Amino acid sequence: MNQRKRVFSGIQPSGRLHIGNYVGAMQNMISLQEEYECVYGIVDYHAMTVRFDPAKMQESIFDCAVDYIAAGIDPEKSILMIQSTVSEHTELAWILNTITPISWLLRVPTFKEKRQQNPDYANMGLLDYPVLMAADIMLYKAEVVPVGDDQLPHLELTREIVRRFNSLFRPTFPEPQAKLGPVSRILGLDGVNKMSKSLDNCIYLDDKREDIWRKLSTAVTDVRRKRRTDPGNPDECNIFTMHKAFSKPDDIAYCARECRTAGIGCLDCKKILLENMCCDLEQIQGRSEQLRNNREHVLHVLAQGRRRAKEIAARTMDEVYAELGIKVYH
Ligand code: TRP
Repeated sequence: MNQRKRVFSGIQPSGRLHIGNYVGAMQNMISLQEEYECVYGIVDYHAMTVRFDPAKMQESIFDCAVDYIAAGIDPEKSILMIQSTVSEHTELAWILNTITPISWLLRVPTFKEKRQQNPDYANMGLLDYPVLMAADIMLYKAEVVPVGDDQLPHLELTREIVRRFNSLFRPTFPEPQAKLGPVSRILGLDGVNKMSKSLDNCIYLDDKREDIWRKLSTAVTDVRRKRRTDPGNPDECNIFTMHKAFSKPDDIAYCARECRTAGIGCLDCKKILLENMCCDLEQIQGRSEQLRNNREHVLHVLAQGRRRAKEIAARTMDEVYAELGIKVYH
């Protein structure tokens, strides 16, 4: 009998991951693997709520699996699965749909944003996105959900749905807690907006040293530090936030001190960051390449993940059916 509490989180297979994804969610997902039974999903049904290219989907899903494993999700410790291969996700989502008021969904910030950006594509799936996410989490009775801070409103909604289910029927699901990492948000190279593919302000996990340096060298730092001789404030600097995610404590302390006293300039600080970031990313890139050359292994991991996920999901659904009085007759 497995006594460890469960964790669920998901990543959409929608192309290259950037260091904002890695630092905001993945590093956190990786660090929970020892203490919890973790289920990590490649959430392809979520990726279908915005325009996508079906011809690229299959490869994006594979790439997402590679990213997970290369970044440090260990398939021996955690369950790595594709959402659409465990049909209980959508089945539970339907059931949760019937207890979720529309008004809760209309006020979700990501829905309002996406609808504004793309009024012709405001489909039901987009509105329902948070309910599917609640189903992902509840299916495994997860108690902890590592996410970046942009996901907090979704998590709050999951908790509301859990409470509603538990009060309408028998208490069945735990209320999940969001877990932010030590660095929950990295801004883009512009130092203002969050790092986002559509804003073209990202460093990608597969960027090479030259690309990274080109991007870092022009990235915005503390805007009040105009000259090399001005002291800066690390707490106002996105480059320093990146240090916190990639550098050793010694380097972090050194850069903070020397920035405040104008002992080093921003470029010096960026060079130290470059070394540390490359050290991390080159390791991930090396593992990615190996995994890409070993397709069999990745597919085996996914098949095994599906099996293990399905077992847990089926147990939860049996409870849910019994609670609702459905699937009694076959
Ligand atoms: N919405 C999440 C994102 O875009 C992805 C996701 C789907 C998720 N289901 C989830 C995250 C369940 C945590 C738990 O980042």
